[in-house]
Amino acid sequence: MNDQGTVLVTGGAGYIGSHAIWALHDAGRSVVVIDDLSTGNRVLLPGDVTLIVGDAGDRGRVEALIGDYGCTAVMHFAGSIVVGESVDNPLAYYANNAGVTLNLIRACLAGGITRFVYSSTAAVYGQPIRLPVGEDAPTQPLNPYGHSKLMAEQMLCDAARAHGLQFAILRYFNVAGADPEGRTGQSSIQPTHLIKRACQAALGLGDGIEIFGADYDTIDGTCVRDYLHVSDLAEAHLAALSHLAGGGESLILNCGYGGGASVRQVLAAVEAEAGVKLNPRTAARRPGDAAELVADAKRIRAALGWQPQHDDLRFIVKTALAWERRLIARRNPATAGP
Ligand SMILES: NC(=O)c1ccc[n+]([C@@H]2O[C@H](COP(=O)([O-])OP(=O)(O)OC[C@H]3O[C@@H](n4cnc5c(N)ncnc54)[C@H](O)[C@@H]3O)[C@@H](O)[C@H]2O)c1
Repeated sequence: MNDQGTVLVTGGAGYIGSHAIWALHDAGRSVVVIDDLSTGNRVLLPGDVTLIVGDAGDRGRVEALIGDYGCTAVMHFAGSIVVGESVDNPLAYYANNAGVTLNLIRACLAGGITRFVYSSTAAVYGQPIRLPVGEDAPTQPLNPYGHSKLMAEQMLCDAARAHGLQFAILRYFNVAGADPEGRTGQSSIQPTHLIKRACQAALGLGDGIEIFGADYDTIDGTCVRDYLHVSDLAEAHLAALSHLAGGGESLILNCGYGGGASVRQVLAAVEAEAGVKLNPRTAARRPGDAAELVADAKRIRAALGWQPQHDDLRFIVKTALAWERRLIARRNPATAGP
């Protein structure tokens, strides 16, 4: 990487952001994090990383940070991510995802940052017409969360045309797993992600696991998703940053493996790793759930030379389970093993 300036990371104390921070840290990059700790936690960060507790949409503060720390690029993870919550409280989602991004872009331009890596989502596609879904497919979000993320994409595209911003928009599919070294992982109190919830159920936490819809036209009737290990995703961010630093053009890239697993296949992998039966309950379909969502993942490999290391559902589950055990041990030190 030919740019060794500091990377400003918004939302770096969250699930995916903290994995990116560890990857940047391992690569010897200087970073500064801004996070309001609304869902993040400082314990997920390396001890020597500077965390500024604040709003990524606070223009004055962010502009000052850029100058104080010599930031030359931004990775923008901060946001609100629960689809159902976005339906109940849409304006909060437009404020925190679209509004904050608008202010952040302005602060970056004012502070002289021109390289911007943005956390987008497969939710911008809605119900894809064709699978696997490529980056040029129509964007038709089904909920305010997806709309708010797509609005931010649009701002970046327009700011790039008008102000010379360079961007990498990364559309994540289903992110799962945890750092193989156990340094960070998904720590939300009320997770909605299937693999985390299934791991919790396998360890006796919560009240079991539900399958939402078993009558889809898929391999076994349950929804199929493209599960991606979070450490591979973190590496994709570093590759995107190198691409932009090398003068590469702005990009929109799917982040997935290009294969899918059904809910039942995920639950079977969790049962096999944990050595327990989950006995899931079958519930009604959730409105807005696509039967199948799998990435056409060719472009990211070609554009960034990204070579994922963990395209293996059992490995994803193994690291997620190890992280849940760590969280339990942290909460009850008396039950921790040697
Ligand atoms: N988890 C997934 O499967 C997934 C899939 C697609 C896209 N994404 C995107 O990835 C990004 C990160 O998601 P995550 O799963 O790590 O979520 P997360 O909730 O763990 O992390 C979000 C972080 O942003 C912080 N934050 C929220 N609003 C902020 C603000 N205004 N200012 C400063 N900090 C703020 C939170 O405290 C938290 O640390 C989000 O933008 C999300 O839309 C996630």
